[in-house]
Amino acid sequence: MKINTAEFIISNSDVSKCPLERLPEYAFIGRSNVGKSSLINMLTNHKNLAKTSGKPGKTQLINHFKINSNWFLVDLPGYGYARVSKKTKEVFQEFITDYFEQREQLVCAFVLIDIRLEAQKIDLEFIEYLGETEVPFCIIFTKADKISKGKVAAHIAAYRKELLANNWEEMPQHFVTSSTEGTGKEELLQFIDGVNQD
Ligand code: GTP
Ligand code: MG
Repeated sequence: MKINTAEFIISNSDVSKCPLERLPEYAFIGRSNVGKSSLINMLTNHKNLAKTSGKPGKTQLINHFKINSNWFLVDLPGYGYARVSKKTKEVFQEFITDYFEQREQLVCAFVLIDIRLEAQKIDLEFIEYLGETEVPFCIIFTKADKISKGKVAAHIAAYRKELLANNWEEMPQHFVTSSTEGTGKEELLQFIDGVNQD
Protein backbone atom coordinates (compact mmCIF):
# COMPACT_ATOMS: atom_id res chain seq x y z
CA MET A 1 0.00 0.00 0.00
CA LYS A 2 1.19 3.48 -0.80
CA ILE A 3 0.56 6.37 1.58
CA ASN A 4 -0.48 9.36 -0.51
CA THR A 5 -1.77 11.68 2.19
CA ALA A 6 -1.15 11.92 5.93
CA GLU A 7 -2.71 14.78 7.87
CA PHE A 8 -2.82 15.67 11.53
CA ILE A 9 -6.44 15.92 12.68
CA ILE A 10 -6.65 16.43 16.46
CA SER A 11 -4.89 15.96 19.80
CA ASN A 12 -6.76 15.42 23.01
CA SER A 13 -6.85 13.63 26.34
CA ASP A 14 -10.49 12.62 26.14
CA VAL A 15 -11.52 9.61 24.09
CA SER A 16 -15.02 11.05 23.61
CA LYS A 17 -13.43 13.94 21.67
CA CYS A 18 -11.59 11.71 19.20
CA PRO A 19 -12.83 11.89 15.59
CA LEU A 20 -16.37 10.59 15.27
CA GLU A 21 -15.91 9.11 11.79
CA ARG A 22 -16.21 5.34 11.66
CA LEU A 23 -12.84 4.74 10.03
CA PRO A 24 -10.49 1.93 11.08
CA GLU A 25 -7.61 3.02 13.28
CA TYR A 26 -4.28 1.64 14.42
CA ALA A 27 -2.69 2.85 17.64
CA PHE A 28 0.96 2.90 18.67
CA ILE A 29 1.66 2.28 22.33
CA GLY A 30 4.72 1.37 24.38
CA ARG A 31 7.22 2.75 26.83
CA SER A 32 8.28 6.37 26.49
CA ASN A 33 11.12 6.79 23.98
CA VAL A 34 10.60 3.38 22.33
CA GLY A 35 10.02 5.10 18.96
CA LYS A 36 6.23 5.34 18.46
CA SER A 37 6.21 8.81 16.92
CA SER A 38 9.32 8.12 14.82
CA LEU A 39 7.67 5.03 13.39
CA ILE A 40 4.58 7.02 12.38
CA ASN A 41 6.86 9.48 10.56
CA MET A 42 8.73 6.64 8.87
CA LEU A 43 5.52 4.94 7.70
CA THR A 44 4.07 8.18 6.35
CA ASN A 45 7.30 9.53 4.78
CA HIS A 46 7.20 12.65 6.96
CA LYS A 47 9.99 14.03 9.11
CA ASN A 48 7.84 15.87 11.63
CA LEU A 49 4.24 14.75 11.30
CA ALA A 50 4.43 13.24 14.80
CA LYS A 51 6.66 15.10 17.26
CA THR A 52 9.69 13.12 18.42
CA SER A 53 12.41 13.73 20.99
CA GLY A 54 15.52 12.14 22.44
CA LYS A 55 13.96 12.77 25.85
CA PRO A 56 11.16 10.47 26.98
CA GLY A 57 7.70 11.91 27.57
CA LYS A 58 7.41 13.91 24.33
CA THR A 59 3.97 12.73 23.21
CA GLN A 60 1.45 13.61 25.90
CA LEU A 61 -1.91 13.33 24.15
CA ILE A 62 -3.92 11.07 21.85
CA ASN A 63 -3.00 12.22 18.30
CA HIS A 64 -5.05 11.26 15.27
CA PHE A 65 -3.45 11.26 11.81
CA LYS A 66 -5.72 10.59 8.85
CA ILE A 67 -4.13 8.46 6.15
CA ASN A 68 -5.25 8.39 2.51
CA SER A 69 -8.50 9.97 3.73
CA ASN A 70 -9.82 6.61 4.93
CA TRP A 71 -8.04 5.33 8.01
CA PHE A 72 -6.20 6.65 11.07
CA LEU A 73 -2.83 6.17 12.70
CA VAL A 74 -2.93 7.12 16.38
CA ASP A 75 0.12 8.25 18.32
CA LEU A 76 -0.21 7.82 22.07
CA PRO A 77 1.83 8.95 25.08
CA GLY A 78 4.35 6.45 26.37
CA TYR A 79 3.97 4.66 29.66
CA GLY A 80 6.55 3.95 32.32
CA TYR A 81 8.30 7.29 32.34
CA ALA A 82 9.30 7.78 35.98
CA ARG A 83 10.08 11.49 35.80
CA VAL A 84 6.47 12.41 35.08
CA SER A 85 4.85 13.23 38.42
CA LYS A 86 2.67 10.51 39.83
CA LYS A 87 -0.53 12.49 39.43
CA THR A 88 0.19 13.30 35.78
CA LYS A 89 1.11 9.67 35.19
CA GLU A 90 -2.23 8.55 36.61
CA VAL A 91 -4.03 10.87 34.20
CA PHE A 92 -2.06 9.39 31.29
CA GLN A 93 -2.96 5.96 32.37
CA GLU A 94 -6.62 6.71 32.75
CA PHE A 95 -7.12 8.31 29.37
CA ILE A 96 -4.98 5.67 27.72
CA THR A 97 -7.01 2.87 29.25
CA ASP A 98 -10.22 4.76 28.37
CA TYR A 99 -8.98 4.85 24.81
CA PHE A 100 -8.34 1.10 24.67
CA GLU A 101 -11.56 0.22 26.45
CA GLN A 102 -13.91 2.61 24.64
CA ARG A 103 -12.60 3.30 21.17
CA GLU A 104 -14.71 1.12 18.89
CA GLN A 105 -12.83 2.21 15.77
CA LEU A 106 -9.58 0.70 17.07
CA VAL A 107 -8.90 -2.38 14.96
CA CYS A 108 -5.35 -3.13 16.08
CA ALA A 109 -2.88 -1.85 18.66
CA PHE A 110 0.82 -2.03 17.95
CA VAL A 111 2.82 -2.55 21.14
CA LEU A 112 6.34 -1.27 20.57
CA ILE A 113 9.22 -3.01 22.28
CA ASP A 114 12.87 -1.90 22.08
CA ILE A 115 14.54 -4.92 20.49
CA ARG A 116 17.72 -4.35 22.51
CA LEU A 117 16.15 -4.86 25.91
CA GLU A 118 15.18 -7.90 27.90
CA ALA A 119 11.45 -8.23 28.48
CA GLN A 120 10.33 -5.40 30.79
CA LYS A 121 7.72 -6.00 33.46
CA ILE A 122 5.69 -2.95 32.48
CA ASP A 123 5.41 -4.15 28.85
CA LEU A 124 4.40 -7.64 29.91
CA GLU A 125 1.75 -6.09 32.18
CA PHE A 126 0.45 -3.89 29.40
CA ILE A 127 0.30 -6.84 26.99
CA GLU A 128 -1.60 -8.80 29.62
CA TYR A 129 -4.00 -5.87 30.02
CA LEU A 130 -4.65 -5.80 26.25
CA GLY A 131 -5.35 -9.53 26.34
CA GLU A 132 -7.79 -9.16 29.22
CA THR A 133 -9.46 -6.20 27.50
CA GLU A 134 -9.67 -8.24 24.27
CA VAL A 135 -7.92 -5.60 22.19
CA PRO A 136 -6.32 -7.14 19.08
CA PHE A 137 -2.64 -6.32 19.04
CA CYS A 138 0.69 -7.01 17.35
CA ILE A 139 4.19 -6.49 18.70
CA ILE A 140 6.70 -4.26 16.94
CA PHE A 141 10.36 -4.64 17.85
CA THR A 142 11.88 -1.21 17.28
CA LYS A 143 15.37 0.22 16.76
CA ALA A 144 16.59 -2.88 14.92
CA ASP A 145 19.46 -0.80 13.52
CA LYS A 146 20.93 -0.75 17.04
CA ILE A 147 21.79 -4.47 17.08
CA SER A 148 23.49 -6.66 14.50
CA LYS A 149 21.18 -8.41 12.02
CA GLY A 150 22.40 -11.75 13.31
CA LYS A 151 21.08 -11.00 16.79
CA VAL A 152 17.54 -10.05 15.78
CA ALA A 153 16.20 -13.62 15.72
CA ALA A 154 17.79 -14.46 19.08
CA HIS A 155 16.26 -11.36 20.74
CA ILE A 156 12.83 -12.26 19.37
CA ALA A 157 13.21 -15.86 20.52
CA ALA A 158 14.07 -14.64 24.02
CA TYR A 159 10.99 -12.43 24.03
CA ARG A 160 8.79 -15.29 22.88
CA LYS A 161 10.12 -17.44 25.71
CA GLU A 162 9.23 -14.71 28.19
CA LEU A 163 5.69 -14.38 26.83
CA LEU A 164 5.15 -18.14 26.98
CA ALA A 165 6.38 -18.05 30.58
CA ASN A 166 3.70 -15.40 31.16
CA ASN A 167 0.90 -17.71 30.03
CA TRP A 168 0.67 -16.70 26.38
CA GLU A 169 0.10 -19.76 24.22
CA GLU A 170 1.99 -18.35 21.27
CA MET A 171 3.98 -15.37 20.14
CA PRO A 172 1.59 -12.72 18.79
CA GLN A 173 2.09 -11.51 15.23
CA HIS A 174 5.19 -9.32 15.25
CA PHE A 175 7.27 -7.02 13.11
CA VAL A 176 10.82 -5.73 13.24
CA THR A 177 11.41 -2.07 12.41
CA SER A 178 14.04 0.61 12.20
CA SER A 179 12.77 4.14 11.68
CA THR A 180 16.22 5.33 10.67
CA GLU A 181 16.64 2.65 7.99
CA GLY A 182 13.03 2.14 6.91
CA THR A 183 13.08 -1.50 7.98
CA GLY A 184 9.66 -3.14 8.28
CA LYS A 185 7.78 -0.41 6.47
CA GLU A 186 6.41 -2.55 3.63
CA GLU A 187 5.45 -5.41 5.96
CA LEU A 188 3.53 -3.11 8.30
CA LEU A 189 1.72 -1.25 5.53
CA GLN A 190 0.83 -4.56 3.89
CA PHE A 191 -0.56 -5.85 7.17
CA ILE A 192 -2.67 -2.71 7.68
CA ASP A 193 -3.90 -2.88 4.09
CA GLY A 194 -4.95 -6.50 4.62
CA VAL A 195 -6.91 -5.64 7.78
CA ASN A 196 -8.52 -2.62 6.08
CA GLN A 197 -9.72 -4.89 3.24
CA ASP A 198 -11.41 -7.36 5.64
P1 GTP B 1 7.32 9.36 23.75
O1 GTP B 1 6.47 10.21 22.87
O2 GTP B 1 8.15 10.15 24.70
O3 GTP B 1 6.54 8.28 24.43
O4 GTP B 1 8.43 8.60 22.83
P2 GTP B 1 8.24 7.83 21.45
O5 GTP B 1 7.99 6.39 21.73
O6 GTP B 1 7.26 8.52 20.57
O7 GTP B 1 9.71 7.92 20.83
P3 GTP B 1 10.26 8.90 19.68
O8 GTP B 1 9.70 8.47 18.36
O9 GTP B 1 10.07 10.31 20.09
O10 GTP B 1 11.80 8.48 19.66
C1 GTP B 1 12.60 8.55 20.82
C2 GTP B 1 14.06 8.59 20.42
O11 GTP B 1 14.45 7.37 19.80
C3 GTP B 1 14.40 9.69 19.42
O12 GTP B 1 15.67 10.20 19.72
C4 GTP B 1 14.43 8.95 18.09
O13 GTP B 1 15.28 9.56 17.13
C5 GTP B 1 14.98 7.60 18.50
N1 GTP B 1 14.50 6.51 17.62
C6 GTP B 1 13.23 6.19 17.35
N2 GTP B 1 13.15 5.14 16.52
C7 GTP B 1 14.42 4.80 16.23
C8 GTP B 1 15.03 3.77 15.41
O14 GTP B 1 14.35 2.96 14.76
N3 GTP B 1 16.39 3.72 15.39
C9 GTP B 1 17.17 4.59 16.10
N4 GTP B 1 18.48 4.43 16.03
N5 GTP B 1 16.64 5.56 16.88
C10 GTP B 1 15.30 5.66 16.95
MG1 MG C 1 5.98 10.05 20.95
